[in-house]
Amino acid sequence: MSDLTDSPQRYGAVSRALHWGMALMFLAQFASALAHWGLERGSALRDALWSYHTDLGFTLFLLVLLRGIWGLANLANRPAHGGPLGQAARLGHAVLYGLMILVPGVRILAAAGSDRGLSYLGFQVVPPRAAEVTWMQLPAEWHGEMGWLLLLVILGHIAMAVGYHRLIARDTTLARMA
Ligand code: HEM
Ligand code: HEM
Repeated sequence: MSDLTDSPQRYGAVSRALHWGMALMFLAQFASALAHWGLERGSALRDALWSYHTDLGFTLFLLVLLRGIWGLANLANRPAHGGPLGQAARLGHAVLYGLMILVPGVRILAAAGSDRGLSYLGFQVVPPRAAEVTWMQLPAEWHGEMGWLLLLVILGHIAMAVGYHRLIARDTTLARMA
């Protein structure tokens, strides 16, 4: 049991599985977004990478909710973040969570208020509307921009974890998530 939950020395098996599993899924999700942005319409590679964007994005949304609940339940037992750099790390992690919820959230809201409805893995979760609900569409206008911002914050996060903690400070920060 103790290996499943977090401790002040390291993140437990559940937190690590969620962290690295979702990191791989984000890689695939950004590959899909990059293909949509950069490849020619009608290209087979673009179609293949784009085909899973909605289902994987919805899965990431469900997983981040689960991860947030698990993180809150383990908050008192997680590795501490002391000092100004630790405060900055906590703020950075909060921004990551905020964007991980908002980016898919606004598109899911838009789909739920659209004349096509919201489907997930082939199931119609919210039926099509007779007319689009305007206010539900508006936040989705920033979906792409917020998505790219999330990518930037993730790259900063990786630079801190590997570049700073592992290579410069040579501390145990990376080891406690590895
Ligand atoms: C964490 C999950 C997600 C990430 C990181 C993400 C990221 C992105 C990014 C960066 C773009 C811009 C691509 C471009 O400029 O061509 C984009 C576009 C798009 N995404 Fe997502 N997405 C996610 C989830 C979703 C979900 C759940 C849906 C649908 C319910 C969705 C539907 C779309 C659509 C329709 C577009 C094209 C229109 C637009 O740019 O708003 N995405 N996504
Ligand atoms: C090569 C890729 C990555 C590396 C090396 C890495 C490394 C780490 C490390 C070492 C920690 C522990 C930091 C600490 O305790 O202060 C951590 C935590 C965290 N990472 Fe990453 N990370 C990577 C990718 C990602 C991605 C793609 C995301 C999500 C968008 C992410 C989101 C988080 C969050 C939110 C935390 C806080 C702990 C939690 O609630 O899970 N990381 N990461």
